[in-house]
Amino acid sequence: MTAAVLEIAGLDIVVDGGRGPTPLVEDVGFSIPAGAAFGLVGESGCGKSITALAVMGLLRTPLRRTRGRIALAGRDIASADAAELRRLRGREVAMIFQEPMTALNPLQTVGRQIAEMFVLHEGARWRDAEDRAVEALRSVRVAAPERRVRDYPHQLSGGMRQRVMIAIALACKPKLLVADEPTTALDVTVQAEIVELMSDLCAARGTAILMISHDLGLVARMCREIAVMYAGRIVEQAAAADLLSHPRHPYTHGLIGALPRLGARAVRGRARLAEITGVVPAPTDRLAGCRFHPRCGRATGHCHTDAPPSKARQEGGIVRCHHDG
Ligand SMILES: Nc1ncnc2c1ncn2[C@@H]1O[C@H](COP(=O)(O)OP(=O)(O)OP(=O)(O)O)[C@@H](O)[C@H]1O
Ligand SMILES: [Mg+2]
Repeated sequence: MTAAVLEIAGLDIVVDGGRGPTPLVEDVGFSIPAGAAFGLVGESGCGKSITALAVMGLLRTPLRRTRGRIALAGRDIASADAAELRRLRGREVAMIFQEPMTALNPLQTVGRQIAEMFVLHEGARWRDAEDRAVEALRSVRVAAPERRVRDYPHQLSGGMRQRVMIAIALACKPKLLVADEPTTALDVTVQAEIVELMSDLCAARGTAILMISHDLGLVARMCREIAVMYAGRIVEQAAAADLLSHPRHPYTHGLIGALPRLGARAVRGRARLAEITGVVPAPTDRLAGCRFHPRCGRATGHCHTDAPPSKARQEGGIVRCHHDG
C-alpha cells in the first residue's frame, strides 16, 4: 500500500480575538495518496488558504490549530521543530500562491532564487546550483532560460513569474505541491497553460498536488478527487467524476449549476441555472446547525439546530447533509 503524502484528520483552526476564539475551520479531514491530484474547492472565506497554511506549518497568531492531526509523508508536523519544518518545506512539500510577486524577492534574479533551493536544501555549490537553475527554468518551458535566469521578477509577465514559482517549488522534487489559487491572477489563456504545466510536471515526477480554487470546473479537469468546503467545513467529498455526475449536497449542486457547460447539461438544455442566492455566513455569526441552511431550498427544522454528521455517499466519498447520503 502506498502511504499518503498528506493526511489531515479532525482539523480545527480558530482565530483568537477580544471575544475569545472564533472557529474558522472545523473537523476538516482528507488524505492524498502519493502522486495524486486532489482538489479543495469553495467560495471566498471558507477556509481553504488557512487549511493550506496549516499543512505548511505556517499558521501564525492570531490563527491557531486547536485540534487534529496533519501528517506529511507520515511525519506529524505538530511534533516537528522549526528546523525540521524548514526541511519538510521544500523537500517534502512546497507551495505556490495566487500572486507570485509577493513570494519572489524583487531584489534578486530569478536564477539566484531557484539556485538557492539547491544550495539550502541539497547543500549544492552555488556554481552547480546556478547551472541547475537554467535547467529548472527550461523544465517549466521558459524560452531562452540561459538569459532569463538573469532577469529580476519585475521584468517578467505574470504567467512567467508563476512558471518561476513552479520551478522553485518543484526544484527539490517535493512529494506534494500545494497550489493555492495559482492561476486566479492570470489571463484565461495563460491560466490554461499554467494548469497544464503543473499537471504535466507533477505527473511526470510523481508529485501529488493539493489544488485549491473557487473554480470547480478547473479543479474537476485536473484532480482525481475533490473536497467541497463551505464555511469552514467539508460538506462533500468524492472522486471528481462521481461528484460531478452525482452531487449529493445542495451546495455542490449549486456549484455545478453555475458551471457553464456542465450546468447546461444538468438542467437539460437550459443555458444557466440560477446562482446560489445569499452570502456565506461570517465566522463571527457562529451560525448553528448546517452552515448552508440560510441558502438552502431543502432546509428543515433540524438543519437550523444540528450540524449534519459526515455520511457515506452511495457512490463513495462522504456528504454532510441531513437530507442526503
Ligand atoms: N490572519 C487572520 N486573522 C483573522 N482572520 C483570518 C485571518 N486569515 C484568515 N482569516 C479568516 O478566516 C476565514 C478563512 O480564510 P481563508 O483565507 O482561508 O479563506 P479562503 O477560502 O482561502 O478564501 P479566498 O477564496 O478568498 O482565498 C475568513 O473568514 C478570513 O476572514
Ligand atoms: Mg484563499
